[in-house]
Amino acid sequence: MKLVKLIANLGYGSRKEVTALFREGRITDADGEVLYADDKVEHARIRLDGEPLDPPPGLVLMMHKPLGYTCSTKDAGRIVYDLLPPRWRARSPALSTIGRLDRDTSGLLLFTDDGALLHRVISPRSNVVKVYEATLAHDLRGDEGAIFASGTLMLESETTPLAPAHLDVLGPRHARLSIGEGRYHQVRRMFAAVGNHVDALHRSAIGGLELGDLPVGQWRALAAHEVAAIFGGG
Ligand code: URA
Repeated sequence: MKLVKLIANLGYGSRKEVTALFREGRITDADGEVLYADDKVEHARIRLDGEPLDPPPGLVLMMHKPLGYTCSTKDAGRIVYDLLPPRWRARSPALSTIGRLDRDTSGLLLFTDDGALLHRVISPRSNVVKVYEATLAHDLRGDEGAIFASGTLMLESETTPLAPAHLDVLGPRHARLSIGEGRYHQVRRMFAAVGNHVDALHRSAIGGLELGDLPVGQWRALAAHEVAAIFGGG
């Protein structure tokens, strides 16, 4: 791919704006040699104002999503893309969230520009387990674990029962729920179906990938072994 296209696709500007960067001599190789728009050079050797470029397509990011941010590219309020460098919203292929978290849910959120990977993570067939920690408004009754594990729980206005899910009770009003599906507001609706209410919700893991100690609002690119961990490898 010609350099002008490669750099425009990373969101650094329109083709016209990137052409201007070339004209100004701001794009060089790793040795400081000025590059031209039609050159073909390996991504890793390109510098803009002496700095390496953003990662090439095939990117997977993890973010510690804060409360109060929406997983959307357009919303009147704060959106998760506000937490990334602005030019990352202009990348092609586009960077999308892998599934969503509600505005009022915090925790592990993934982004990628790899459509095949995105579908593999969210497909029910992959059975990638998402792990949530819920703080509840009422004490657990004791039968919730069996109901969630039964594979027969039907949520309101749905036509197929939920697949079995696993509940770990962490305290009277605190539980960890592991689900393989990703239906709309699933965790909140599951607790509502057993007469409870979720006061706070946090996702701590997707498959074998844990959020760990990534601070709230921060993000980082994943290494290949971390992407493999989503599917149980790594
Ligand atoms: N279930 C919910 O209810 N909300 C989320 O954000 C994720 C799962």
